[in-house]
Amino acid sequence: MTSTTHESASFVQWRTRQQEAVEQALSHWVPESLPAGLGQAMRYAVLDGGKRLRPLLVLATSEALQGDTGAAMRAACSVELIHAYSLVHDDMPCMDNDVLRRGKPTTHVKFGEAQALLAGDALQALAFELLVPDDASLEPAMSVALCRLLALSAGGDGMAGGQSVDLASVGRTLDLTELEAMHRRKTGALLQASVVMGAVAGRASAATLRALETYGASLGLAFQVVDDILDVVADVAALGKTVGKDAASDKPTFVSLMGLEQAQRYADRALDRAHEALEQTGLADTHNLHALADWVGRRDR
Ligand code: IPE
Ligand code: IPE
Ligand code: MG
Ligand code: MG
Ligand code: MG
Repeated sequence: MTSTTHESASFVQWRTRQQEAVEQALSHWVPESLPAGLGQAMRYAVLDGGKRLRPLLVLATSEALQGDTGAAMRAACSVELIHAYSLVHDDMPCMDNDVLRRGKPTTHVKFGEAQALLAGDALQALAFELLVPDDASLEPAMSVALCRLLALSAGGDGMAGGQSVDLASVGRTLDLTELEAMHRRKTGALLQASVVMGAVAGRASAATLRALETYGASLGLAFQVVDDILDVVADVAALGKTVGKDAASDKPTFVSLMGLEQAQRYADRALDRAHEALEQTGLADTHNLHALADWVGRRDR
C-alpha cells in the first residue's frame, strides 16, 4: 500500500495554501509586544519554519468531516504552539543541547536559556488560551473537549512523559516494546491528538473517531521512527537541524535497535496501518489524509 503515492498536484496546492494560512494565523495570535522581549523569543520559536504537519492533520481531518473552519484553525495553531514549545525545551542544554533548529540557531542560543525556558512556558499557556476564546467563536463543549485532548497529549502521560523516558534512557538499550511506548508518548501522542482534535472540530461519529484514532496513532509512531532514520541519513541543510545527534548522545532509537533497513520497514508497516484505518472511517474524501501519511514516510526533513 505504501507504493501508492497520494502526492497529487491538488495535495501540494492544498498543503501550500494551508501552510500559509497557518503561518498567518500564528503570526496574528503570537503577540510581539510582551514584557522584556518575551514576545520576540516566542515568535522566533514559532514563525518561519517547520512543516506544520500537526496543523495540517487537524485541518485535513476537520475538512474531511466538513467541520467548522474557525474551530479547526484554532485547534491547528494550538497544537503547533505546544509542538514549538516542546522543541524549544528539547533543544536546551539540559535536554538534547542542540544549536540548530529549522535552519536557524535554537531559541536558547539566540535569546539565552532563561528566556527560552519562559518562551516555551508562555507558548504552552497561549495554546490553551487559543482554545478558550473570549468571544463566541468556539462552543463551550467543543472548547472543553479540545482543551482536554491537548492537555492529555502534552502532559505527563503524553509528550512530557515520553521526553522524560527519552532522557532516562540515555546509554541504555530499550527493547521494542519500551521503544514503541516512548515514541508513542513523546511524539505520537501530539500527532494523534491533532487528528482527534480535527475530528472533534468536525463532530465525527464514534465509529469514525475510532478509525481516525488508529490512523493518528499509526502515523504518529511512524513519524518518530522516520525522525530517528533522518538523524542518521539526512543532509543537515535539508533537515535544518544537526544530524547524528542520537548516536552521539547514546540515545536508543529504532535505528540503534534494528538498523536502518528494518527501521524503514517498520515505519512503512505503521504507515500501511494508517492508510488501512482511513478505509474504516466511512468518510468520502480522505485524499489529503492519505497524502499526509505518504508525506511522513518519504520526507527529507
Ligand atoms: C521534530 O518534529 C521533533 C519531533 C517530534 C520528532 P517535526 O519534524 O515536525 O519538526 P518541524 O515542526 O517540521 O520543525
Ligand atoms: C523530540 O524528539 C520530540 C519532542 C517532543 C520535541 P527528538 O529529540 O528526536 O526531536 P529532534 O530530532 O530534536 O527534532
Ligand atoms: Mg529529544
Ligand atoms: Mg532533540
Ligand atoms: Mg530526533
